[in-house]
Parts: sequence; structure tokens; C-alpha cells
Amino acid sequence: RSDVSADLADILLTEQQLGERLDQMAAEIDADYRDQDLLLVGVLKGAVMVMADLARRLHHTVEMDWMAVSSYGSGTKSSGVVRILKDLDTDLTGRNVLIVEDIIDSGLTLSWLVSNLRSRGPRSVEIATMLRKPAAAKVEVDVRYVGFDIPSEFVVGYGLDYAEKYRNLPFVGTLAPHVYGG
Ligand code: PRP
Ligand code: MN
Ligand code: MG
Repeated sequence: RSDVSADLADILLTEQQLGERLDQMAAEIDADYRDQDLLLVGVLKGAVMVMADLARRLHHTVEMDWMAVSSYGSGTKSSGVVRILKDLDTDLTGRNVLIVEDIIDSGLTLSWLVSNLRSRGPRSVEIATMLRKPAAAKVEVDVRYVGFDIPSEFVVGYGLDYAEKYRNLPFVGTLAPHVYGG
């Protein structure tokens, strides 16, 4: 299928809305980390878009590194037990770490990740996420920067996938029912 618009039901957040919010988040981050070291840690694969768009808005010398994680168990990712598929290349000792995510759903991935990274001796660990689903939270995660709180609908685009597709959409939207129906 090449015409992606046929697969979409609604657009939840436009490219312009995402961009305007990213401008604000970047300004906050610049102010909060003024004259301080900053290491951005993107969580593959969903965070690729927000990492690229947030990082290029910062007037700040940052480093960027990546982790890939996967939940144990079949199908559902609600176990909260996470395994590292690709670890950081960077030693976190004494570093200010800002984890960059596309979305917090149950919060289980980030909850695990924050304690994992905290155990490595960083100076600080904070989170920036483009999207958050407050109603879906299974654990409390202390998030410093949130783009948008959204309803607990399945959304795709701007890094978020359905069966690995739709990550490349420049906006966030919901899928038409026929896409799930097969
Ligand atoms: C998605 C999303 C977050 C995580 C949020 O990643 O990108 O990383 O799930 O879910 P949670 O709050 O319930 O833990 P996914 O595991 O689908 O991998 P992906 O980024 O490669 O799509
Ligand atoms: Mn992810
Ligand atoms: Mg995914």
C-alpha cells in the first residue's frame, strides 16, 4: 500500500502543532541545563523523530546516544520486565541524562529504564516525552518534559508504529478500522 492517507482515521496532532510544542520544550531544556553538561538518550525506535527534532532546536552542546530495549514475554508489553537489545556507548558517571521518548503508555518501559540508568552513577536522570497517555499509566513516572497528554487511543506516526509501519508520518494520527481488521 502506498497511499497512507487511506489508512488513517483522524489526525490528532499536526506537524505544526508538534513543531510549536517542540520549540517550547527545547527552550525549557536550554534554560534548565544552561551551562551544564547534557546527554540525550533516545529510546529506539520510536524516539527517532522527536530526538532529531528536539536536538536540533537546542542552543546547547549536547551528546546523543541510543538504547534499544524490548519487553519480555509474548505479545503484550505490560510485564515491565525489559531486556536491553542495544546498550549505550556512553559512561553515565557524573552525566546529566535526559531520556527522550515518543510516548509513555503504561510507563513500564521508562520506569525500568530510569532505575537502570540511575544505577550507573549519573548526576541526574530526567525524561522528555512527546506524548503521554495519563489514563493508561500502570506505574507513576516522574516526567520533566511532556509534549502532549492524549487519550488512550492507539496512535501512530511521528515515530510511533503499528506493526512497524507509519513511523514516518510527520504527524500523529489514529488508524482506520480496516487496518486492524486485516
Ligand atoms: C513503545 C514506545 C515506548 C513504549 C511505551 O515502544 O515507543 O517506548 O512503547 O510503552 P509503555 O509506557 O507501556 O512501556 P515499543 O516497545 O513499541 O518499541 P518501538 O519504539 O521500537 O516501537
Ligand atoms: Mn519505543
Ligand atoms: Mg512500537
